[in-house]
Amino acid sequence: MKISTIGTVIAAAVFSSSVVQADSSDLPPIKIDGNAFFNSKNGQRFYIRGVDYQPGGSSKLQDPLADSDNCKRDIPVFKDLGINTIRVYSVDNSKDHSDCMEQLQEAGIYLVLDVNTPQASLSRLDPKCSYNANYLQNVFATIDAFAKYDNVLGFFAGNEVINDVNNTFTAPYVKAVVRDMKKYMKSQNYRQIPVGYSAADIASNRELAAQYFNCGDEDDARIDMFGVNDYSWCGDSSFEKSGYSTKVETYENYSIPIFLSEFGCNQGVSDGRPFTEIGAIYSDKMSSVFSGGLVYEYSGEANGYGLVDIDGDSVSKNQDYQNLKKQYAAQSNPSGDGGYSTSKKHSDCPSYKKDVWEANNTIPDMPSAASAYFKKGAGTPQGTKASTQNDCGSDVHVVPAGGSDSSDSGNGNNSTSSSGGSSSSTSTSSSTSGISSHKSSSSASITTSTKGDASTKGKNNKSVGAGAVLQVPSFFRAMAQVVDLVL
Ligand SMILES: *[C@@H]1O[C@H](CO)[C@@H](O)[C@H](O)[C@H]1NC(C)=O
Ligand SMILES: *[C@@H]1O[C@H](CO)[C@@H](O)[C@H](O)[C@H]1NC(C)=O
Ligand SMILES: *[C@@H]1O[C@H](CO)[C@@H](O)[C@H](O)[C@H]1NC(C)=O
Ligand SMILES: *[C@@H]1O[C@H](CO)[C@@H](O)[C@H](O)[C@H]1NC(C)=O
Ligand SMILES: *[C@@H]1O[C@H](CO)[C@@H](O)[C@H](O)[C@H]1NC(C)=O
Ligand SMILES: *[C@@H]1O[C@H](CO)[C@@H](O)[C@H](O)[C@H]1NC(C)=O
Repeated sequence: MKISTIGTVIAAAVFSSSVVQADSSDLPPIKIDGNAFFNSKNGQRFYIRGVDYQPGGSSKLQDPLADSDNCKRDIPVFKDLGINTIRVYSVDNSKDHSDCMEQLQEAGIYLVLDVNTPQASLSRLDPKCSYNANYLQNVFATIDAFAKYDNVLGFFAGNEVINDVNNTFTAPYVKAVVRDMKKYMKSQNYRQIPVGYSAADIASNRELAAQYFNCGDEDDARIDMFGVNDYSWCGDSSFEKSGYSTKVETYENYSIPIFLSEFGCNQGVSDGRPFTEIGAIYSDKMSSVFSGGLVYEYSGEANGYGLVDIDGDSVSKNQDYQNLKKQYAAQSNPSGDGGYSTSKKHSDCPSYKKDVWEANNTIPDMPSAASAYFKKGAGTPQGTKASTQNDCGSDVHVVPAGGSDSSDSGNGNNSTSSSGGSSSSTSTSSSTSGISSHKSSSSASITTSTKGDASTKGKNNKSVGAGAVLQVPSFFRAMAQVVDLVL
């Protein structure tokens, strides 16, 4: 990597007096200390400057990291934009990602990866059933496919699984997945890549969710980092008006890194999003609590959030892109360590409260059949063939552990113990995978539920909880109607 290249990427993370020491070949893993990220080689604080990246959206779901040509097309654009991280919502774990991962590495770009797919993810309607051994096999096989890359910043165990006031009961299953992922990485002697959760900004439970995922005595079940999908800064807003200031107060004692896993409201914006929030996010007003964020999203899809439009091999940058690039260039990171803290303690667990927080601290046991994956590895990745939401019964075939040649089930246990044995999900219409469904195009074949999220956000356009105004891109409301018809 050329020094000039890494210079732009890292310049902002550099203490005023220090010199960038770029190693030409590798990008060191990002480590967590207290509530912040750090470059493990030079010790400097790391702020995520990123975009969410899933060309094709959810309607034409494709693995963006398995196509070298697409990476050659887009990664130079990432460099031009001045980012250091992308988030990808869904990959095909049976494909080869080495070329794209190397291109990202050379460009100085880290990856935050969601481990779910639309077909292999927790179901909001029946989380117990969907938390089964085949589901975990897919998650673990995705870890197998990416654990070797130093530029994987972290994994998201789930995205907006709680997306409404009425599905907080799914939270223990998300925590179970977090625990299983961390245990799996240990069992395989992988680098302990941070595991996080990406939360929808639901006024009635945003703080409870943050606490829940960062509480309890079992270290492995607590997340390592927390992402919030936050669309509260719309247009040329301000730190106070957007509610960002309130959120900094709300999370002031949070012990682990928090970042905006999606931001970039497009409500009431006519001539490109101004992205003035960049000035707040990368300032010392927020840096003691937040560690940057990812703009939703790189490519223009049906929902109109793109920074660029892709047509075959060509990429055209729109006004949003130009504005964002300018804002990034104008705003360097806070000096020094940004006021991060190592003295915060993990959160107290919120109590169960009917209709508000319906999750207690009994984390479900891992389905017993999945324990074979700890011993022998996850085995053959199932890629897009993995379809796990209905795998509830004891007669379900469990993907064998270990090498690709195992023809017997090899693990002696077919049952998915947490499933209750016989009940089968009657609907896959609330998969919680990858793509942020409320912003996806209206493909009926992708069954993620857009309804709950959209309607919740639509209803809550008022001062709530911590006092922030929850503003909703109008697209969400349009989608709510579309999905009403689809469901
Ligand atoms: C953070 O901790 C301090 C000291 O214990 C306390 O005074 C403050 O109320 C806490 N803030 C929140 C938002 O809980
Ligand atoms: C926790 O929730 C589970 C599932 O709803 C329930 O079976 C269990 O009894 C609850 N445990 C406690 C201690 O409330
Ligand atoms: C099989 O299931 C039993 C009972 O749930 C459990 O004790 C045992 O560890 C499991 N064996 C394997 C290989 O998963
Ligand atoms: C597991 O399932 C397979 C296929 O459904 C079956 O052949 C095998 O006997 C089962 N093994 C156990 C231990 O139940
Ligand atoms: C939650 O409420 C929404 C309506 O806002 C409904 O569509 C959804 O099915 C409900 N989910 C559960 C798990 O009850
Ligand atoms: C929602 O919030 C926007 C922006 O603050 C405001 O213009 C609009 O009137 C609000 N709508 C409702 C129904 O409260």
